[in-house]
Amino acid sequence: MKRVITYGTFDLLHYGHINLLRRAKEQGDYLVVALSTDEFNWDEKQKKCYFSYEKRKQLLEAIRYVDLVIPEEGWDQKSSDIELYHIDKFVMGDDWAGKFDFLQEETDAEVIYLPRTPEVSTTQIKNDLKLK
Ligand code: CTP
Repeated sequence: MKRVITYGTFDLLHYGHINLLRRAKEQGDYLVVALSTDEFNWDEKQKKCYFSYEKRKQLLEAIRYVDLVIPEEGWDQKSSDIELYHIDKFVMGDDWAGKFDFLQEETDAEVIYLPRTPEVSTTQIKNDLKLK
């Protein structure tokens, strides 16, 4: 069984997220999503989520492509997650292209960047709704 992992905030879940999750799952048989906690988003990314971690987790768990949701609490957990969950492929959107290549040296996992879906993002949705 091939195991895949991806990381993200997935706030105000949108079709760009669904596309990413579908293609991540197609890379293997079992998809783990490491979901940024509210504290990690705020402290490290200066992002305030609209939906709490628990709500974002519930939404992800309702998606057929997602097998397991775990918390992302820091930048440095990726190698240990890959070992712990016996991950074969590490997948991210290509806004992160090149940033995680080091994991290919540190672990046995293959690092894959998938093209982002154009013209949609949580930031864009938040900005558009402010205009109304
Ligand atoms: N993603 C994607 N296509 C989009 C938006 C996001 O493929 N149009 C992917 C990202 O590349 C990432 C995952 O979905 O791998 C989670 O992204 P996240 O940062 O949570 O979503 P964004 O909509 O990009 O949110 P923000 O605007 O807050 O950065």
